[in-house]
Amino acid sequence: MQEEQGMKVLLVGSGGREHAMAAALSKSPNLDQLLIAPGNAGTSEIGENVPVAIGDVPGLVALARERSVDLVVVGPEAPLADGLADELNRAGIPVFGPSAAAARIESSKSWAKRLMARHGIPTAGFATFQSIQESMSHIDTLSEGPVVVKADGLAAGKGVIIAQSRQEASDAVAEMIRGQIFGDAGSTVVIEECMEGPEVSVFAFVDGRTVSNEVAACDYKRAYDDDDGPNTGGMGAYTPPEFWTPKLAARIRAEVLEPIAVAMDEEGSPFTGILYAGLMLTESGPRVIEFNCRFGDPEAQVVLSRLETDLLDIALAAANGTLEQVDVQWNDQAGVCIVMASGGYPGSYETGKPISGLSDVSTSAMVFHAGTGQGDDGTVLTTGGRVLDVVASGSDIFEARTNAYAAAQSISFDGAEYRSDIASRAVESPAP
Ligand code: AMP
Ligand code: GLY
Repeated sequence: MQEEQGMKVLLVGSGGREHAMAAALSKSPNLDQLLIAPGNAGTSEIGENVPVAIGDVPGLVALARERSVDLVVVGPEAPLADGLADELNRAGIPVFGPSAAAARIESSKSWAKRLMARHGIPTAGFATFQSIQESMSHIDTLSEGPVVVKADGLAAGKGVIIAQSRQEASDAVAEMIRGQIFGDAGSTVVIEECMEGPEVSVFAFVDGRTVSNEVAACDYKRAYDDDDGPNTGGMGAYTPPEFWTPKLAARIRAEVLEPIAVAMDEEGSPFTGILYAGLMLTESGPRVIEFNCRFGDPEAQVVLSRLETDLLDIALAAANGTLEQVDVQWNDQAGVCIVMASGGYPGSYETGKPISGLSDVSTSAMVFHAGTGQGDDGTVLTTGGRVLDVVASGSDIFEARTNAYAAAQSISFDGAEYRSDIASRAVESPAP
């Protein structure tokens, strides 16, 4: 174990994921002070919110310096892609999160796909283009059927179009390259083979070639029940998936997690932080949909409740390159997260609605704040699309789900919306 008495930590981010990370960090006996930039109404109860935006890399580095923090933990991908970890390293401040070069695993889909291809990591067949003409010629060579078209850059999880025909694919490519839908993120497009099967998000702490024990969760990207409606940042999650087995976990470790860590290290962009593999379990085995360079939101809210090991110890070890000395353990508890959103999300919605019932939530559930702020009189108000994440644990998914929905029902705000089918498929087909 390392000497880390009385550590001062800066956590970057403001969503439900960061509230859950703040809660996990605050359990550490080694934590002295937690700063969150910029945080939300929930994190203000755990630490000190400091109003520096996640997009303000120089401001975050200056804050870490001025407040002499011992470790910076980064929640979201955008500041990582912008080089926050590089700047902190340059300033001699330990950071848990990848360099901009390693964050390309998420910030450049074409870079990630080529890396996977070079190292034989299973993923959908693909080609990348910057010209509409060349994309069209490529699409003409594909057989009829669904085609996946993606913007190369960061598009907040929304840069993917599953085109049902070649014509639809051609239209999507043209709009992306002209910058009409995803701006600069779409100036390079990735055209992919469409895979089929259940999806799973797998997370591991990584430092160079060391890959910790992994944990799996399922999330719900569509806005409405039965996976209807537009894609969102995520409307709920549960862990463990009903189809998750030690055999599947071992296969994913051997075919995906370990090879990608080696590949990144070998190619000069070693990864430090949380690696998130979005996978599809196809008939020919697990294949990568995408990698992300951070925790999933809302998956973090359920998997962190299963983390038995001190998160601060893990983050500090990864930042210092000594993760191999930490035995990361996840327990067998089930967890369910229900996202309460503002009416109209992911389209337009109103904010500033007072939230009631927060103090009535029973101890069998936790509420993480995502889009909240404090009014002048201290009332908690809605400030975003995804407002609250209601999370419950249990010895099985049924218990966790029951507790999570009971808690969600005791909270209200004008226009609140949430899906009623989170984890229902896992309750219907219990774990093997
Ligand atoms: P991504 O932003 O890459 O996670 O993609 C968003 C969603 O699009 C995924 O969760 C999948 O449901 C779907 N998707 C992405 N790529 C593919 C693919 N090659 N085949 C089938 N579905 C895909
Ligand atoms: N839950 C999906 C994501 O964090 O990208």
